Amino acid sequence: FQNQQENPHNKHITPSNRQDTADEARRLQTACNGDFVFTTALYEQIQTEVAEMGNNLNANNGDRGRFYGGILRLAAHDFMDFDRNAAAGEEGGSDGCLIFTEEDNIGLEATWVGEGVSPMPAIQVLYESIYEPMGMSRADYWVAIANAVVKVASPNQVLDLPFRYGRNTSEDCSFAIGRQPKANGCSDVEEVFINRMGVTWRDATALMGGHTLGAGSASGHVGIWDNTRAGSAQFNNDFYDEMLNRSWRPVLDEDGNAHDWTWSTPNNNNFPFLMLHTDICLYFDIPEDGSADCCTDISGNCRGGTQNNQCPTAEDIRPESFQAVEDFRGNNNNNNRNTDG
Ligand code: HEM
Repeated sequence: FQNQQENPHNKHITPSNRQDTADEARRLQTACNGDFVFTTALYEQIQTEVAEMGNNLNANNGDRGRFYGGILRLAAHDFMDFDRNAAAGEEGGSDGCLIFTEEDNIGLEATWVGEGVSPMPAIQVLYESIYEPMGMSRADYWVAIANAVVKVASPNQVLDLPFRYGRNTSEDCSFAIGRQPKANGCSDVEEVFINRMGVTWRDATALMGGHTLGAGSASGHVGIWDNTRAGSAQFNNDFYDEMLNRSWRPVLDEDGNAHDWTWSTPNNNNFPFLMLHTDICLYFDIPEDGSADCCTDISGNCRGGTQNNQCPTAEDIRPESFQAVEDFRGNNNNNNRNTDG
């Protein structure tokens, strides 16, 4: 999801071709007469910086998870406004451009400028003082720092994603206003991921696993997807395990409509556990009109009321995302059920 132009520098860097890539980058650098080349050394420097900034933050109070989560969400919002059917030049995608004042982008400016957690690293300052002057596009930088987060937050830091560089930054992306997903249900997932981005339900389910990091707050969707604050700084398959291993019940708004899902105990409401409709619907068949009155597992504690109806699965209506959740979960099938939840 990137506005790739014909660019000799477009190239995948994978852990196995790193050295080749570095060599080729040097060759290209000469060939391109000093044009910027995203070398492996730079890519690894960014990984090191992200790791250092993350390590300086407290994991147990959620700051580290918010820092990592904010960066991943920044890159995700950049790619989620991609529309393969848009007019030429208005496709959007990973172009380093977001309208921060758009409602669905709330909180992302704070991530970029360095507000929120303390001490919140100002990645914008880092980019503008070091990487922008050497010619790195903001579009590439956002993807590189998100890849770095995935790596440094993954178990034993082994998840080293391939990286393609050569994106151009857009200074105006007003054409993409309104393309970010709402959290109403799987119609949003379908519109953004399947129709506009052109990926499969399985891919969409994999991407949604990003919610294992960080927390919701400013948007009014409040809580963590993982079961501990420290866990929300670790990139693993907890998102899927949590979805299947808890008794998620609707959180009602003042009109009695289901706003989100939680399994939090009442005394944990200061910072609840959270799933969005757009998460739960990947595995369960829930209504989009906010009228959900079911619980994802009535053998756990659904905390009474009409929510003791078992939510049907989405196996028949969205078999691909249903199967993907099954495939992406850990090996600890249902053995960590919290009997209090
Ligand atoms: C249907 C698609 C999606 C919807 C509706 C959605 C919605 C949301 C919402 C409402 C929040 C809370 C924001 C706040 O209050 O600060 C959030 C946070 C987050 N989202 Fe998504 N999201 C979607 C897809 C994704 C994808 C594909 C990724 C990553 C690949 C992602 C990564 C994150 C992360 C890491 C956070 C936590 C941010 C933080 O800690 O500051 N989201 N999302």
